[in-house]
Amino acid sequence: MIETGEFDFENRIVAPQVIKEDDQDLDYSLRPKTLAEYIGQDKVKENMSIYIEAAKRRGEALDHVLLYGPPGLGKTTLSNIIAHELGVNIRVTSGPAIEKTGDLAALLTSLQAGDVLFIDEIHRLSHAIEEVLYPALEDFAIDFMVGNGPAARSIRIDLPRFTLIGATTRSGQLSAPLRDRFGIIQRLELYSPQDLAEIIKRSAVILGVAIDNEAAEEMATRSRGTPRIANRFLKRVRDYADVMGNGRITKDIAKIALDRMEVDNLGLDSLDKRMLTMIIKGYNGGPVGLETLASAIGEESVTLEDVCEPYLMQLGFLARTPRGRCATELAYKHLGIIKPDNGGQTTLF
Ligand code: ADE
Repeated sequence: MIETGEFDFENRIVAPQVIKEDDQDLDYSLRPKTLAEYIGQDKVKENMSIYIEAAKRRGEALDHVLLYGPPGLGKTTLSNIIAHELGVNIRVTSGPAIEKTGDLAALLTSLQAGDVLFIDEIHRLSHAIEEVLYPALEDFAIDFMVGNGPAARSIRIDLPRFTLIGATTRSGQLSAPLRDRFGIIQRLELYSPQDLAEIIKRSAVILGVAIDNEAAEEMATRSRGTPRIANRFLKRVRDYADVMGNGRITKDIAKIALDRMEVDNLGLDSLDKRMLTMIIKGYNGGPVGLETLASAIGEESVTLEDVCEPYLMQLGFLARTPRGRCATELAYKHLGIIKPDNGGQTTLF
């Protein structure tokens, strides 16, 4: 029997999104402020440092930037760094927060030349707002309708040249006309365990916690490629080290703490396991369509797609095929399930 539905997603310790337990102030102090402090994402860092330097030398605003990739990888952090490196102000908002065209107009008209406007979850902008954004991005102007009926006319307000940084979990969710207006498109990848161990050690220094290298590596391997999860683990494991030990985070303490949080040795939790188990036991290892799978385990398909799949694919546990999702041999092995030779089908003859 595979359980369905009752998963407490809000409190999932390996959720890449911000959860209730996250201390936002503390989280903020752990965020790097410059590109030099930022660990990992080497390609993005190299590209962005060139584009930033070029814009600065020419005295121009940076081209509009689209950052995409799974949640928790530092899109907001990177946007703050870009503004910092450019030496400009940043205004932060999100797609769902901009409800009326007037909200966007107020934001845009408050910008100074060269400033950054950061819109998180930009794929959630309404169509009407997108329409206002297009001329702002292309011509640095917004058009307003004033008056009603035959007296109605459009007035144009010029804007300073600014940089929009948009963030989204998948660039495919964006409308094509919006995507086309970004001169710079960068994809953030899940972090390697080595980078995550560096991030954990850096954060430990900021928090004033002593940590063994092996402990940082153990925590990194279970952080599913995501700094937000790594830093969350650090705060929780520190609690165990304070209460059960002398405050130093050792590998043993890290293991005990993470095991108690029900995060397995590769960072999988019960949601990932339910997904893989359903593919294996419910659909003979796949292929099974994402929607079918999501309803079978009582989860939203976007959760599976944005949160579980990137990491399961990085581990090589899940394959996406045109006919649906398949569990790989490695997934069977990790879950301790023996893969039948005939793919699980019973033969009649
Ligand atoms: N904290 C969170 N993300 C980080 C990163 N990429 N580099 C350094 N510290 C971080």
